[in-house]
Amino acid sequence: MPLPPLIETFRRAGQSQVFAFFEQLDPAGQRQLLQEAAEIDLAEVDRLTRTLLTGSASAGVPFADLTPAPYEALPAQGGEAAAWARAKAAGEEELRAGRVAAFTVAGGQGTRLGYDGPKGTFPVTPLRHKPLFQVFAEKIQAAGVRYGQPLHWFIMTSHQNHGATVAFLEEHRYFGLDRARVHCFRQGRMPAVDFAGRILLETPGTLALSPDGHGGSLRALERSGALDLMRREHIETLSYFQVDNPLVRCVDPAFIGWHRLRGSQMSSKMIPKAYPEEKLGHFCLLDGRLVVVEYSDLPLAMQRETTPDGQLRFRAGSIAIHMLDREFIRGIAAGGEGVALPFHRADKKIPTVDAAGRPVKPAQPNGVKFELFVFDAQPFAAHPLVIETSRADDFSPVKNATGVDSPQTCRDDQLRQFARWLRANGAEVATDASGRPHAGLEVSPRFGYDEDSFAESWGRLSPRPAITDGLYLDCNPP
Ligand code: UTP
Repeated sequence: MPLPPLIETFRRAGQSQVFAFFEQLDPAGQRQLLQEAAEIDLAEVDRLTRTLLTGSASAGVPFADLTPAPYEALPAQGGEAAAWARAKAAGEEELRAGRVAAFTVAGGQGTRLGYDGPKGTFPVTPLRHKPLFQVFAEKIQAAGVRYGQPLHWFIMTSHQNHGATVAFLEEHRYFGLDRARVHCFRQGRMPAVDFAGRILLETPGTLALSPDGHGGSLRALERSGALDLMRREHIETLSYFQVDNPLVRCVDPAFIGWHRLRGSQMSSKMIPKAYPEEKLGHFCLLDGRLVVVEYSDLPLAMQRETTPDGQLRFRAGSIAIHMLDREFIRGIAAGGEGVALPFHRADKKIPTVDAAGRPVKPAQPNGVKFELFVFDAQPFAAHPLVIETSRADDFSPVKNATGVDSPQTCRDDQLRQFARWLRANGAEVATDASGRPHAGLEVSPRFGYDEDSFAESWGRLSPRPAITDGLYLDCNPP
């Protein structure tokens, strides 16, 4: 029987190893391998091999030309309070008009956390142990109620976790959201290659494929039809956030308003880095364009530079919260001359097979994964904008099983936030020096998902509960 033409195409591209075990597979296995292979853009793999692997890779960032990016400082940090108030009012108007949707990227592999299951199903809240997806769902629902306009929620999954994600949301009835407004779609995959650019097999009948990075969200939004759905629903802008950060304001009126009033196509939030080595990307200007330079790329000496007032010079840390305009996303997804996102290379230990088809679990990196990063879209945006946010109200990711950015630090940060909100509204809450309450508390996002919504619910509450261990505030007064 003649071999399928795709096999010949791979052979001519120097990738014949992909089909090394083809003849040993049963017909279903052969079909699956051919299907996976058909997903691969061989020209792209070849280009990435030449530019990122074997060739004289690009010259890299000309560090001497980098300057810190400007940003809109919070009023408490010297920003203009009236401008922030105008932005907030404009953002509220966008929400009332239904022109904004929430967007969670949840296609990552979560290897550092080492949790078995989609990260969005990981329990994070201090008392009720609500999973990340529930926290976001309740925030999105509450914001919809507050602005009289239920929000759409887009969730990007991966091939690996799509089924489990949808099943989880179904099982929990979308945590009270209208399921017609929750849209899960898969991101794309990229093949892993060895250091010579040869595509790796994970098993004799499957390719080593992995998600194409959070930057893959832009093309996945287009490919999945999400952008068309947005147009039909008159949604202009996505509020982008990561699945691992329950503190995030899923839709933040001030951020939305700044983005809209400036006519920005893509905006980002920054926090001042806590210390020079903190693992956050840096917002910088390069030839007048806004870029993010990763912590692993910016020389340490530059990360440590200070200004005369003692602040870090490159202090604007990226926390992966963005506003993205629909038609801007479409343009990036279409790619083309000068607007395509660049791939990044990550050297990894990639499970594969040896020449006899036996499994190999490498102890050292044996190959490369290619990923797109969403912040690389920023230089292509018209009027890009960075605004400051307060870490305590927007950022406490769950990345690692222990230590920094772990479930424990995230729980503590949630507790501090609840205590701050209570105290700001006159409640007596005993805390330690870091602001962490002695009592275990939890505020449901339906009761308060930010300072304002909390204050409104608390103001209506009568009688007010004592702040005791185990206090859980939900929209139905206890
Ligand atoms: P991370 O960079 O933390 O990666 O993703 P990760 O895969 O979740 O975790 P590790 O590195 O394996 O431990 C940041 C955000 O981007 C999403 C993640 O789901 C998370 O919300 N992401 C990352 C995607 O949606 N797709 C990807 O391909 C990569």
